[in-house]
Amino acid sequence: MKIGILISGRGSNMVAIAEAVRDGAIPDSDVAVVVSDKSKAPGLEKARELGIETVVVTRKKRSREEHDAEIVSELKKHGVELVCLAGYMRLLSAGFVRAFPNRILNIHPSLLPSFKGLHAHEQAIQYGVKISGCTVHFVDEHLDHGAIILQKAVEVRDGDDADSLSKRIIVHEHAAYVEAVRRIAAGEIVIKGRRVNTKAITHDD
Ligand code: GAR
Repeated sequence: MKIGILISGRGSNMVAIAEAVRDGAIPDSDVAVVVSDKSKAPGLEKARELGIETVVVTRKKRSREEHDAEIVSELKKHGVELVCLAGYMRLLSAGFVRAFPNRILNIHPSLLPSFKGLHAHEQAIQYGVKISGCTVHFVDEHLDHGAIILQKAVEVRDGDDADSLSKRIIVHEHAAYVEAVRRIAAGEIVIKGRRVNTKAITHDD
């Protein structure tokens, strides 16, 4: 499975996926390209160090549709079959979503549907929840909305701020994202509307 990863910043989730592919934890796959909308994203250098081709597609005052069309064309050029958003901080256009039906994943640092959008850790702390975490989900045209693949819960401690909470959640993000991509690469997932189930493996399979 050829994977394309979109980043805007640090790229630690991208590195987790790329290392899992390299080490065989995600089977029969290859990270074909890392695309960033920010030319200075620190993750770009990390991708190059891992020997992965990188492409920068900045917005350049274009519409979302025009910008996304160029990204889609780069991904298709590299034969990408699964797109992973990894700290990619832009909403995708309908055209982008339609180009990869049920083939775009995102990770978000909260237990969706709580605390969508920006500053999820701060939102969780301000709300006063005792449990937060992270969610890997399919991407549709709505913000942090598509069908959920898996979630990991993380305790919110007294005295946590956004920084301390994010440091504990990010470790689970890496594990959750790798596991979600592994399940897809291994063909273990069945999608029924909003419900994403693990395929029952029988001896006849
Ligand atoms: C991660 O915490 C990810 O969940 C979050 O940005 C961070 C990127 O870190 N994404 C969102 O908030 C998307 N709404 P990374 O660049 O080190 O993977």
